[in-house]
Amino acid sequence: MTLLKILHHPDPRLRTKATPVQTFDAALEVFAQDMLQTMYAAPGIGLAATQVNVHKRIIVVDVSEEKNRPHTLINPVLEPYGNKIKGEEGCLSVPEIYDSVERFEHVNVKAQDVAGNPVEFTADGMLSVCIQHECDHLEGKLFVDYLSSLKRGRITKKLRERAR
Ligand code: NI
Repeated sequence: MTLLKILHHPDPRLRTKATPVQTFDAALEVFAQDMLQTMYAAPGIGLAATQVNVHKRIIVVDVSEEKNRPHTLINPVLEPYGNKIKGEEGCLSVPEIYDSVERFEHVNVKAQDVAGNPVEFTADGMLSVCIQHECDHLEGKLFVDYLSSLKRGRITKKLRERAR
């Protein structure tokens, strides 16, 4: 088991658009396990491969209290629907910053598991928000992109100073 290094905003590599996974092999399984361990250790409720500098369409999430309901989603495709809800979000790539973001309350998820089998389900509430947040990472998008440019500028400055 390897803990992976998480990139921090404003690292430009976080802006990379991820490409689809085409090979479902043992290495993918190991990498998905490492992503989960890295997420739990952080601690966080979601992680996208982009955040550990692997630009493939892979996300892991677990919003359960007991940290025993992991989802590993490969090549996820989302259809969000329903009302928009506002909630406080944070991100392991934007440490110690939290702000309010609007997301769809529900999402239909089509993806593959680590073996390449198709999976489909609908998610609500926190799981829905978390999956939408992680899939944004695969497009090179961060939750701070939804904030005003003034706020985003302040956050970027703060993180740059902290990294020094
Ligand atoms: Ni994030």
